[in-house]
Amino acid sequence: MSDSEDAQLEARLAEQDAFEPPESFVEQANVSDPGIYEAFEDDWPECWERAAELLDWERDYDEVLDDVEEPFYEWFTGGKLNASANCLDRHLADRGDETAIQWEGELGDTRSFSYAELHREVNEFAAALRSIGIEEDDVVTMYMPMIPELPIAMLACARIGAPHSVVFAGFSADALATRMNAADSEYLITCDGYYRRGDALDHLSKANDGLDGVEHDATTVVVDRLGPESEHDLGENQLDYDELVADHEGETVDPVTRDAEDMLFLMYTSGTTGTPKGVKHTTGGYLSYVAWTAHAVLDVKPEDTYWCAADIGWITGHSYIVYGPLALGTTTVMYEGTPDYPEKDRLWEIVETYGVDQLYTAPTAIRAFMKWGETYPDRHDLSSLRLLGTVGEPINPRAWKWYYKHIGGEECPIVDTWWQTETGGMMITTLPAVGEMKPGSAGPPLPGVSADVVDESGDPVAAGEAGYVTVDRPWPGMLRTLYRNDDRFVSEYWEGYSDPETDEWVYFPEDGAKIDDDGYITILGRVDDVINVSGHRLGTMEIESAVVGVEGVAEAAAVGGDHDLKGEAVYVYAILEDGYEESEEMEQAIVDGVTEAIGPIARPERIVFTPELPKTRSGKIMRRLLVDIANSEELGDTSTLRNPDVVSDIQERSR
Ligand code: WTA
Repeated sequence: MSDSEDAQLEARLAEQDAFEPPESFVEQANVSDPGIYEAFEDDWPECWERAAELLDWERDYDEVLDDVEEPFYEWFTGGKLNASANCLDRHLADRGDETAIQWEGELGDTRSFSYAELHREVNEFAAALRSIGIEEDDVVTMYMPMIPELPIAMLACARIGAPHSVVFAGFSADALATRMNAADSEYLITCDGYYRRGDALDHLSKANDGLDGVEHDATTVVVDRLGPESEHDLGENQLDYDELVADHEGETVDPVTRDAEDMLFLMYTSGTTGTPKGVKHTTGGYLSYVAWTAHAVLDVKPEDTYWCAADIGWITGHSYIVYGPLALGTTTVMYEGTPDYPEKDRLWEIVETYGVDQLYTAPTAIRAFMKWGETYPDRHDLSSLRLLGTVGEPINPRAWKWYYKHIGGEECPIVDTWWQTETGGMMITTLPAVGEMKPGSAGPPLPGVSADVVDESGDPVAAGEAGYVTVDRPWPGMLRTLYRNDDRFVSEYWEGYSDPETDEWVYFPEDGAKIDDDGYITILGRVDDVINVSGHRLGTMEIESAVVGVEGVAEAAAVGGDHDLKGEAVYVYAILEDGYEESEEMEQAIVDGVTEAIGPIARPERIVFTPELPKTRSGKIMRRLLVDIANSEELGDTSTLRNPDVVSDIQERSR
């Protein structure tokens, strides 16, 4: 293409604000009938049988939805199944030799598992887990980076009915300990280390530090990822993965029959208060929902090579690297490393090498690709791509269009999928072969999902006005509760907009949004005290408690400020105790404190020392003003402040 043609195309794209699904895509799509919205509406909640039908059930369910004890909804009650059998065993006859997991290491090493091979690995590890005493309903923690043993371990646990709790490998030792303690988890699966930008990172020391903070005895299984070049010692109660599995070579384990409502896994996520929330997902509803959305939204077919470039340590990886795609019997790609190693075309090289059909990634990555420029994707043949997806944070129209043009070649629909750890799977997005796409707007709620944008009192807002997302009907993939904390489950998610007197239960996801005349929802971001750094959810309270844990810090506030690449970045405002000086050493101590307590992803972008924080008369920190300051924006209303003078002082210090 000549420069002038390119410029013309660029200009046309910049002006266009709606895109039709490409003809070639529609013709082959899993779901292409626009009548599906009405069909779900007319047949709700039985419509969700379509999701359940994607699975094999050992015993049929009696009821699709049991809403006797709202908001503790139950789905597919009476049904029995096993998630590991659904992801493996049932594919063996037809697809045993097809690739289930295609793994690529950061250094270019590859491992591939056919369904038959994955089945064998999972069975052997399931036998091994049993041999070390793991029983049905024991919570097994996994603290592992992107290596095949992570999905193997997840499926092995699912096979024996032991719920897993995966802790993101980038989280700190403290975070691991908190989560193991909260779940009373007596088993940990981890590894010696992994590669980042070519360097071998020691992971086991971090895991061991975490174990020091665990209040009960724990048995640990350690995967040897780094090999002989990097020796590691095993402590008491620590077993080597390979040796353990070798002891169970060739063994098979019958999948345990699980109730639809039995817990499949726990996933801890950040909320408004300091302690992470243990989101509980179940076997029948969750698995049906992720299989259905992978089928309907990501258009996954068994013969595809599908790639979700997320980390399994977050919900996106659980639902759309492991459970959704494997339930559908497709090939799921797993990449260990970073997108810019050894060069900035790594992702495009992987797409070309494996002939990837669908790519599902995050806006933070897309913004980085855009910054690096199109020379990197242009080096590769990306014509295998059929669909693109994004998740985790709002995508701005410019980044959307860049993705559409330079990665999708204007021939792939983009699904901008809004959902959360709590929702289990996608909730608001266009269906790729049905709805027109509007860059920046996620789209309408999926068929069968009833979401709206409302004001403070729960009334729908007018088109174009900002309000809050609410969901006023249950869905199969929903969280069932917060582990061991039913009260918090009700107060966090249901109290805001529900009316128990009239039995109207409304789920509140704590996101702000706008809606247009066509019912398309544009997500504006969190309205609680959660910061979204590169699509990773971090609680401001968790960060603040890490900052005040640093010697010399009296008080602190953490907020999210805009950031070109990360979406949001952490800004810390700290008051020092008398006798401590505002210094680079103090800043470093705070950075270290946060990194140690949470992990490098929470590393503050900027630390501002201040003698005071802006507070309301009732003593609450006005974070909104600090956000304005971080963004160098005009300040909102300061009239309710007890100490209005402090604001200009903080502004001055922030310059
Ligand atoms: C945000 C990740 C805009 C949102 C799956 C939500 C999004 C939080 C989108 C959940 C999107 C997720 N557009 N914002 N397409 N997808 N979010 O639990 O604020 O890690 O509440 O789940 O990410 O983050 P979580």
